[in-house]
Amino acid sequence: MTIKNVMVIGAGQMGSGIAQVFAQSGFDVKLNDISEESLQKGLATMEKLLSRNVDKGRMTEEQKTETLNRIQTTTSLEEASDRDLVIEAVVENMDVKTQVFQKLDEITPSHAILATNTSSLPITDIAAVTNRPDQVIGMHFMNPVPIMKLVEIIRAIQTSDKTYKTIEEAAKALNKTPVEVNDYPGFVSNRVLMPMINEAIYTVYEGVAEPEAVDEVMKLGMNHPMGPLTLADFIGLDTCLYIMEVLYDGFGDSKYRPCPLLKKYVSAGWLGKKSGRGFYVYE
Ligand SMILES: NC(=O)c1ccc[n+]([C@@H]2O[C@H](COP(=O)([O-])OP(=O)(O)OC[C@H]3O[C@@H](n4cnc5c(N)ncnc54)[C@H](O)[C@@H]3O)[C@@H](O)[C@H]2O)c1
Repeated sequence: MTIKNVMVIGAGQMGSGIAQVFAQSGFDVKLNDISEESLQKGLATMEKLLSRNVDKGRMTEEQKTETLNRIQTTTSLEEASDRDLVIEAVVENMDVKTQVFQKLDEITPSHAILATNTSSLPITDIAAVTNRPDQVIGMHFMNPVPIMKLVEIIRAIQTSDKTYKTIEEAAKALNKTPVEVNDYPGFVSNRVLMPMINEAIYTVYEGVAEPEAVDEVMKLGMNHPMGPLTLADFIGLDTCLYIMEVLYDGFGDSKYRPCPLLKKYVSAGWLGKKSGRGFYVYE
């Protein structure tokens, strides 16, 4: 099957980026959210990013207009009834996601593939709440979506080869690089990244070094573009804690225990850049 039209559910940071890259690649896109305000904010973000591309000579004004014209916004999930592919990018909450998937299973045509952009929730469990588990898959885009090349494609145990191939082709059509992984806690991206961030937090907790020093070591010594504590602040410390808990619960291995300092920061509301304070202070 070749995907021609998509619906993206959730117009937040990730959903608006996903809608934008599909529209830029010529797909017909519907962007859904429960909140009209989120839809308007998502559209404004896309408009801003596309205008920047025009200013930098990466696209013409006409291409920008065509891209935006390919996106329709809606608060009605029923409008998924004519879609080949639906990508869910709502809040990282299993109850919300399973409700969305159960509804999509009723609304969408029988050939439609249902994908989730979850960072950490088990795709196998999401697939199991539908009557088409072989057509459910993880399509994990990275933030910021228009810039990052990777799409980690996660196969649930039930995902068919046909579904995988179709999604791999769709990712390539977006000019992204798909990488195939299986459904285990944290997939590959967060299984490797989060323990490194957690360990960096342990070095601060144990007084090995100040945050600036930890980040400097990883930037200059390991050639990381950004230190792990700066990255943690950008991701959100609540998200980092949540993913460590998923790894800890999923594997039952003490090596994934979240650092007490990470827990303390989150309890204090020091969530990183978005709250103005994390390992660093933001204006
Ligand atoms: N932020 C990241 O760096 C990142 C990276 C990769 C994957 N993800 C994953 O992407 C998903 C979305 O993350 P985000 O950062 O864009 O979140 P966000 O909070 O920016 O956006 C979530 C949006 O979902 C909407 N929403 C909530 N319930 C809904 C429902 N039932 N139907 C329709 N819309 C609904 C909200 O109104 C909001 O606009 C999460 O699963 C997250 O784990 C995030």
